[in-house]
Amino acid sequence: MEIKMKTYLCTGCAGFIGTSFVHYLLKKHDDIRIVNLDALTYAGNLENLKDIEGDERHIFVHGNICDEELVRKLIREYDPDYIINFAAESHVDRSIANPEIFVNTNVLGTVNLLQRAKEAWLDGREWKKGKKYIQVSTDEVYGALGPDGFFTETTPVNPHSPYSSSKASADHFVKAFHDTYGMPINITRCSNNYGMWQFPEKLIPLMINNAKNHKSLPVYGDGMQVRDWLFVEDHCKAVDMVAEGGKDGEVYNVGGHNERPNIFIVKTIIGQLSERLNDPEINEGLIKHVEDRLGHDRRYGIDPSKIKADLGWYPETTFEVGIVKTIDWYLENQEWMDRVTSGEYQKYYEEMYRNRK
Ligand code: NAD
Ligand code: DAU
Repeated sequence: MEIKMKTYLCTGCAGFIGTSFVHYLLKKHDDIRIVNLDALTYAGNLENLKDIEGDERHIFVHGNICDEELVRKLIREYDPDYIINFAAESHVDRSIANPEIFVNTNVLGTVNLLQRAKEAWLDGREWKKGKKYIQVSTDEVYGALGPDGFFTETTPVNPHSPYSSSKASADHFVKAFHDTYGMPINITRCSNNYGMWQFPEKLIPLMINNAKNHKSLPVYGDGMQVRDWLFVEDHCKAVDMVAEGGKDGEVYNVGGHNERPNIFIVKTIIGQLSERLNDPEINEGLIKHVEDRLGHDRRYGIDPSKIKADLGWYPETTFEVGIVKTIDWYLENQEWMDRVTSGEYQKYYEEMYRNRK
């Protein structure tokens, strides 16, 4: 019997987590094809995928998930088994400054993907076999916790920021397509990721880059907000396992009991860098408590028991190991950081196409 090669339509995979996901899949499977649809916003960086240039299993498509014709054409042409939606505006501070783009990409873009998938996969009342839509969501849709307890999949959705509200809205649409039309879906809700290729607007790469350059380290408010940190490869493994084995219609929380207050993260980075670089100017004097983020969620904490029980997923990398690997990666890839902070990385796509002409 012929086994059909699996095709993934993955969106947003020139960004932080998507980049890791593409690398993870290509390392794990020989016989797959990944169509990577990415709009290359400021957060998309094709240089992240430089090492797999020429690998025929990865097909990059520059485009927007809101583009009806393009998404229709890609589904028709490649007939994906899975559509995995990583594409999003992902930064909370940007959503506070400018919420509209978060509605466009995160809500309308998701609905466009759902509509195009339904158009291609629903025949009368029957869904084509083996197809599934996976929405990569976030623990932020649950809102904030007090000092005790954890988010489970039955915790009511109660977002606070424009970012988390747009992600929660998208999740509702995904569920609506399942409940109304019977679309095969899963939703993953993951905690804070860290690791290589993260854009330095997010806490960990920002602090590494600033500390290394003896710049001040802006800690919002008292710095006692708690996040549940997950090494990005563990998240990729979870999304892959959910795509392969997730029960239809289910939500899976992804996190690893790695809760740490922000100030602890910042002090850990200072300690690691000053020791590694033997640089006494990297010290806690660089910490600057600044005005708090508006509506700042105090604590997130994931209960991952469902994904463990159903699929056998568990986080392999402890925070102590993951943060060292992460710091090492940024130290070894200073050129990547320089090209991102100077904006040079955005010219890479243009150069690539100019050279091909
Ligand atoms: P990111 O901001 O690093 O990357 C987002 C990617 O999406 C970029 O490549 C960007 O070019 C692309 N994109 C943005 N708008 C697009 C559009 N309209 N059409 C096509 N592509 C578009 O984000 P990330 O941190 O890698 O997050 C990926 C996903 O995981 C997001 O959905 C996010 O909500 C979710 N998530 C992130 C975290 C985290 O800690 N970073 C945790 C849980 C969930
Ligand atoms: O929980 C999952 C979410 O994690 C994802 O859905 C988001 O896409 C991702 O951006 C992340 O959101 P956060 O807001 O938690 O991440 P960020 O790195 O922006 O901030 C982490 C914490 O650090 C948060 O409490 C705010 C604080 N912070 C952040 C920055 C950038 C600071 O104190 N100073 C800073 O300069």
